[in-house]
Amino acid sequence: MTTVSLPDYAIFVGDFWSEFRNFLSNTSYSRHFVIVDEHTARYCMPRLQQQTPDINWLPIIIPPGEQHKNIQTCNTIWQQLMDNNANRGALVVNLGGGVIGDMGGFCASTFKRGMDFVQMPTTLLSQVDASIGGKLGIDFMQVKNSIGLFRNPQGVWIDPAFLQTLPFREIRSGFAEIIKHSLIADPGEWERIQAIQNLESITWSDFLLPSLQIKKDIVIADPFEKGLRKALNFGHTIGHAVEGMALESEHPLLHGEAIAIGMICETYLSHRILGLPLETLDFIAGFLVRIYGHHPLAEALYVDYLQLMTQDKKNENNQINFSLIPDIGKVKVNQTADKMLIRESLDYYNSMV
Ligand code: GLY
Repeated sequence: MTTVSLPDYAIFVGDFWSEFRNFLSNTSYSRHFVIVDEHTARYCMPRLQQQTPDINWLPIIIPPGEQHKNIQTCNTIWQQLMDNNANRGALVVNLGGGVIGDMGGFCASTFKRGMDFVQMPTTLLSQVDASIGGKLGIDFMQVKNSIGLFRNPQGVWIDPAFLQTLPFREIRSGFAEIIKHSLIADPGEWERIQAIQNLESITWSDFLLPSLQIKKDIVIADPFEKGLRKALNFGHTIGHAVEGMALESEHPLLHGEAIAIGMICETYLSHRILGLPLETLDFIAGFLVRIYGHHPLAEALYVDYLQLMTQDKKNENNQINFSLIPDIGKVKVNQTADKMLIRESLDYYNSMV
């Protein structure tokens, strides 16, 4: 097990179960709740129960998926906490992907003005990204994460064994955030990543630790996203628009698949605005298409993509805000691009077939 320390809490990676049992026996929580969805109830909760046989876990089971990350599901969670006499002395474990972590943390943080919670992420995406940095919340009026707060957990417990319960497409989706971390902050890690021959045979824990170290350093430097933390949005301004449009279509994309497209377009913007060399652009774009395939963006919908980008909550002064890379391992936040150039970046992606 490896421990990565932040000022207020620690991240435990690997076979942490004896340490987790110590945590539970050294604390005196009145009740132990575990929030799961129907998948993690089936595939992950048995491991938690087997590893902590002395604890009487009270499961709160919610339906899976981003479409349930809303106030109605929060009502269900709060209701069950209330029905089971939860108080501020109880603990909540969020056992699942980003939706469970964000929404479970939000519910715990607001119930009776705040209960302790821990994040136990089970997807690659949440292990390298969502569970770290204290962002909690839900979607509201179709705007992702528009209601929420920053609050740190008591700890983040990452067991890579949970990844074995995931389909390959989900793992590949999470890998996009690992690629992003390397492109914005660590050229050495990018070298290692771009040399991967077969994604299906790699040991994820080898890539998890360096990646979450990058995220950890960024959130320590800028916990409330005033400046540097915006670097983590590389690929996400266009990626979120692509994800939003695809959700409405017959072929929804997973978050990381959309972010891969966003990273290609925003690498193009990095080339045009910040002088990232053309051969570096072509190399990064080629690598991402090799991993994620190519999903053409209909030109007739460019206006809708741009409309969604205009609504992005990161924008300031009516300008669409980007975090771009002048070179591999470097990032500049608060960059803007006009709509013509953004269209050009979508054209660049489309030209890659
Ligand atoms: N996932 C981006 C952030 O935590 O800031």
